[in-house]
Amino acid sequence: MAVASEVDGVPETALWTLHHRVLEAKRPDGMFADPRAVDLVTRMDFPFAERFGEGFRTQTQLLALRVRCFDIAVSEFLVDHPAGTVVALGEGLETQFWRVDNGLVRWLTVDLPPSARLRERLLPRGDRQRLYVGSALDLGWMDEVDDSEAILITAQGLLMYFRPEDVHRLLSACAERFPGGVLVLDTVAHWMARAVRRASTRAAGYRPPEMHWCLDSADWQSLRQLHPNVAEITEVRSPAGRGPLAWLPPNVHRIPLIRGRRSGVVRLRFGPEPVAP
Ligand SMILES: C[S@@+](CC[C@H](N)C(=O)[O-])C[C@H]1O[C@@H](n2cnc3c(N)ncnc32)[C@H](O)[C@@H]1O
Repeated sequence: MAVASEVDGVPETALWTLHHRVLEAKRPDGMFADPRAVDLVTRMDFPFAERFGEGFRTQTQLLALRVRCFDIAVSEFLVDHPAGTVVALGEGLETQFWRVDNGLVRWLTVDLPPSARLRERLLPRGDRQRLYVGSALDLGWMDEVDDSEAILITAQGLLMYFRPEDVHRLLSACAERFPGGVLVLDTVAHWMARAVRRASTRAAGYRPPEMHWCLDSADWQSLRQLHPNVAEITEVRSPAGRGPLAWLPPNVHRIPLIRGRRSGVVRLRFGPEPVAP
């Protein structure tokens, strides 16, 4: 199935993350299995290796660790709320639903028309999965959320591409609209955004889009100021990787010179709890 002409810019970043997830999932010592993603790329007529390269090992691992953090956050949520709703903003071709499905979770994907169209064509959609075609920033998706059960919103690899004022407006709107809910997002540290920009200026081939919203780990707690309902902010600590990344990711918060300048995955809890009927 030919897809090359349909994607560019930010939607293409969803193919880049898919490519790295598949590289990781195919390893005998990979951090997760993802047969749905492996099958998906074999059905797509897209020059993944030509466009994105074979990935240098650290990059693939770092992305895999981010995936694991999001899977851990969703799985922990489902332990407490087995029939909860997950809203995946900017989900692209993520196959997380199949990695964490407990048979009860309900799922809402929110993405722009080009990525949503691709997802619609390439991935099956069961009774518990719905798709909202539109921007996460227009907030219309909020009316589609079934909030009769607990809610967890994910924004994986998304918010860094938005303007800071748009990120703040979106987070504040989520806190207002979903008291008792949880939102999991990843942040990119300033130095890392600069490094990616420098590397992509030199690189031939694929260039990731510009990142506009950066936040160092030292400033994570500043997100509490966005809305009175942002009650708690905690890090989703990385599991161990392999080789040189076996020790560092789970322990990096202990290293004085680095701990405030990290990228990472954080969980925002919104209060007050919804009042029981
Ligand atoms: C880097 S990809 C990440 C995809 C997926 N979350 C993952 O980790 O593989 C960014 C995704 O965000 C989507 N996106 C970009 N801007 C968006 C917006 N304003 N609203 C919703 N989705 C958006 C893109 O279409 C793309 O699917």
